[in-house]
Amino acid sequence: MSNTQQSPFLGFGLGLRTAHYETILSEKPAVDWFEVITENYLVNGGKPLYYLDSIRAEYPMVMHGVSLSIGAVEVLNFDYLRQVKALAARIEPAWISDHLCWTGVNGINLHDLLPLPYTEEALRHVVDRVGVVQDFLGRRILLENVSSYVTYVHSEMTEWEFLSAVAEQADCLILLDINNIYVSAHNHDFDPCDYLNNVPAERIQQFHLAGHIKQGEIIIDNHGDAIIDPVWALYETALRRFGPVSTLIERDDNIPLFPELLAELQQARRIAAQLARAA
Ligand SMILES: [Fe+2]
Repeated sequence: MSNTQQSPFLGFGLGLRTAHYETILSEKPAVDWFEVITENYLVNGGKPLYYLDSIRAEYPMVMHGVSLSIGAVEVLNFDYLRQVKALAARIEPAWISDHLCWTGVNGINLHDLLPLPYTEEALRHVVDRVGVVQDFLGRRILLENVSSYVTYVHSEMTEWEFLSAVAEQADCLILLDINNIYVSAHNHDFDPCDYLNNVPAERIQQFHLAGHIKQGEIIIDNHGDAIIDPVWALYETALRRFGPVSTLIERDDNIPLFPELLAELQQARRIAAQLARAA
């Protein structure tokens, strides 16, 4: 893994959710690819794998994990990684991603994607672990920026500096969540364009788009609402900077009927097509 060669552009995808399994199989909707939550399919059989295989036969897929906890101080969970590798052998995803975060301590999973302190020490720790994971899986992984509501007083660099340094030093790729940038920019009062302008373009392999809710002064990244106009605008800014990037609409809560997600996907396509025409 010595160069930054990206995988092909997959187009415009949706997160695969159980509520839509039957619709997808019966209607074969115009979705270019699906992203699956890795942990939902780390099972030995049954309906989840039946649907996974059936839908995989029709669509490209990528795997998106929530349990890697790449920033945690505990040893990496090789049982988990073995299962991830086996699932990847089964469905041959275009790529595998997880989050730049930690999710717990002392064996307790807090079920939250918690931000790291952005220090040189944390950087060395994460870079080492990404190297181990990539060697084990035999492929480069993508790490996603998480949204955050708190920061650490001893951080020595910005989030985008930390993310960029991890990607460069560990030779991994980046899943840029546009909504998370918007949310964190609001919560921590920075310019989201500074983020976009200072991450390495050649390592951006995928975008996430999602909705959020506002609670008082804080924005919560709940993946349960429609994407708002300022996030669409930031998506357009990102496309101008990075060119075509595989784009995924992420919805984990208040799952709507499939046509509503297709309409959001169409909006992403429209924005990208307009930019391509103007170029
Ligand atoms: Fe995301």
